[in-house]
Amino acid sequence: MKFYEVATYKEMSRKAANIISAEIISNPKAVIGLATGSTPIGTYNQLIEWCKKGDLDFAQVTTVNLDEYYGLSGENEQSYRYFMNDHLFDHVNIDKNNTHVPNGLAKDPEAEGERYDAFIKEIGGIDLQLLGIGIDGHIGFNEPDDVFVKETHLVDLDESTIQANSRFFESADEVPKKALTMGMMSIMQAKKILMVVSGENKEQILKEALTGPITPKNPASILQVHPDVTVIFTKQAN
Ligand code: F6R
Repeated sequence: MKFYEVATYKEMSRKAANIISAEIISNPKAVIGLATGSTPIGTYNQLIEWCKKGDLDFAQVTTVNLDEYYGLSGENEQSYRYFMNDHLFDHVNIDKNNTHVPNGLAKDPEAEGERYDAFIKEIGGIDLQLLGIGIDGHIGFNEPDDVFVKETHLVDLDESTIQANSRFFESADEVPKKALTMGMMSIMQAKKILMVVSGENKEQILKEALTGPITPKNPASILQVHPDVTVIFTKQAN
């Protein structure tokens, strides 16, 4: 595992964007796994800047996102599909048909999970997966649990996650209580993993995840057994 601590959120974002760019430049047809939340916004801004300058080409890139709130359509401004369009896809030369987010409106979430995993397998798996980490150690929306769940599945969001994400909503009551998330199988089968973490409030859970016991009580701890993980941490909150 490579671990970098940098001084500023801007440096973290630039370094992460460098790693993603290097992947796309060396493999223009790369499959990139993406995350939402506030941590990767600076990374996306940097990628947009380089793409606009002509230094980065998304024309043949495919993306698969980690998760989506259950019950929200992609047109809903709080949905993760909307977030991705707004923070990245609408500003780079990616073909939207090659961008994939679990369907938050799927009537049968189990079938949607199976479809999503089968699709990721069909396109050859993920070359580089970008991750953030929740205050409770979640990756994607794999919340602390008694087991690691392999497949893309429907989860009940933890109270701490609902509270943390309420900053994007009018109130905590409006935060959806469920989400569809990629399971540990697709995440751990990604050839490379890049985790971005910002803020002192994440330092302790990150330390436990990277150096403590591997346990589903701290879902990110599973990354200790992945052969190619890069973590970029800054104490500076964004
Ligand atoms: C979002 C996701 C989550 C976030 C995590 C941190 O797609 O998968 O695991 O990465 O909740 O969110 P922020 O960056 O908002 O602190």
